[in-house]
Amino acid sequence: MKVTVFGIGYVGLVQAAVLAEVGHQVLCVDVNADRVENLKKGIIPIYEPGLTPLVEKHFASGYLNFTTDAQAGVEHGEVQFIAVGTPPDEDGSADLQYVLAVARTIATYMQAPKVIIDKSTVPVGTADKVKATIASVLAQREQAINFDVVSNPEFLKEGAAVNDCMRPDRIIVGTYDDRPKDLMRELYEPFNRNHDKMIFMDVRSAELTKYAANCMLATKISFMNEMANLAELLGADIEAVRKGIGSDPRIGYHFIYPGCGYGGSCFPKDVQALIRSSEQMGYTPRVLQAVEAVNNKQKFKLPELLKQHFAGDLAGKTIAIWGLSFKPNTDDMREASSRVLMEEMWHAGAKVQAYDPEAMEETQRIYGVRDDLTLVGTKEAALKGADALVICTEWQQFRAPDFELIKAQLKQPVIFDGRNLYEPKRLALRGFTYYAIGRGD
Ligand code: NAD
Ligand code: UGA
Repeated sequence: MKVTVFGIGYVGLVQAAVLAEVGHQVLCVDVNADRVENLKKGIIPIYEPGLTPLVEKHFASGYLNFTTDAQAGVEHGEVQFIAVGTPPDEDGSADLQYVLAVARTIATYMQAPKVIIDKSTVPVGTADKVKATIASVLAQREQAINFDVVSNPEFLKEGAAVNDCMRPDRIIVGTYDDRPKDLMRELYEPFNRNHDKMIFMDVRSAELTKYAANCMLATKISFMNEMANLAELLGADIEAVRKGIGSDPRIGYHFIYPGCGYGGSCFPKDVQALIRSSEQMGYTPRVLQAVEAVNNKQKFKLPELLKQHFAGDLAGKTIAIWGLSFKPNTDDMREASSRVLMEEMWHAGAKVQAYDPEAMEETQRIYGVRDDLTLVGTKEAALKGADALVICTEWQQFRAPDFELIKAQLKQPVIFDGRNLYEPKRLALRGFTYYAIGRGD
């Protein structure tokens, strides 16, 4: 099948690569000319395990191509994916300008019937807007061409995106009527072999399904962070509690890890957007408001522990940080807890000496060159002469470090662990002062 994907970001590029992998002919369109040129040279704009070989293979085989030529993109695909960003507006609601711009582009150039698939995360009612936008441009062009708008949200996780798209646990398809259903089945047939993962519904329910999923996961995390804070006050260990409740299949082990707050391009933005959607309908979403408030506070947990430990005197101190990305296996720094930590440390007059396996270039791009930020090439180098070690991201290589070396390199043996990687008793025996999340006394 001929497929066009508008937007070559995380979602668009990964989706395009896996569609090419199963034999669809995919043309990606982006307004970012540098991105398109780089991709043609094999330079991939994001770090995502398994993505580079897939893109290289299918660019070489001709199944995957990149262009800035929107007209060529519209002409190419019988299905047209919209996979552009929906960043927060000033008030937190989703900014639909990029989605609607693509809708206008498709309507401007289409000469034959198309199925327009909305993959971006969009508020309920956006498919109606996309439909109306296309209809109005076609009316201006005095063209009566059939088209369908389908809501097909994406559930991939960064760091596991290729696998998530190759083996989705569900494929949500929201349609206005039956017309596009067969085409959607054919498109996803290669990913739908073992059992039927396709769930058809109306467009509004599909749009809400995406927000409900992210908000439910964010709720689990904020709930656990609240329990962790409570465990600290009550002298309990959240790690024991986590195992205790996770063993109940109704609760499950997934997404109940307490930490230094959730980040990334989606949970913070999507919780906020659903709050705004609710408020626009005159409804106060109390659970979502609490989820957001708990998370915003949790991001200050590590800086507060540091301030307490150093009795408010962080001026002139050097803080070693392991892990800068918002989660492991990505270079994405959007809404990362490490950013709150670094900014709080700088505000207090401390210097940061940091290491991340993938996100240092991105950190440099965001903060530029500054005296109080040193990015180093190994986790060991980050420790040298530092007053404390802080862990923000649970990269595998941080799980079993050489504690004697840490002790030798730090000015004093103190670790602030935002991801509960170590056993408090063991670290105490090794002579460390160890702060973690919700681990009691
Ligand atoms: P992104 O910012 O990484 O990429 C968006 C791309 O769209 C950019 O390359 C940009 O140049 C391009 N673009 C903007 N306007 C365009 C236009 N008019 N024509 C062509 N290209 C255009 O975004 P992303 O992270 O891939 O997210 C896309 C959508 O998918 C968002 O709604 C997001 O919420 C959702 N989503 C993201 C993830 C994730 O893990 N990142 C997962 C599921 C859903
Ligand atoms: C999340 C969802 O998991 C995807 O299903 C969804 O498609 C995506 O958002 C999206 O809509 O963009 P992602 O943001 O890539 O994916 O990463 P997650 O693995 O969900 O982690 C998000 C944040 O929650 C991270 O900061 C992570 O450290 C934190 N987290 C996760 C916890 O603090 N505790 C947990 O138990 C799990």
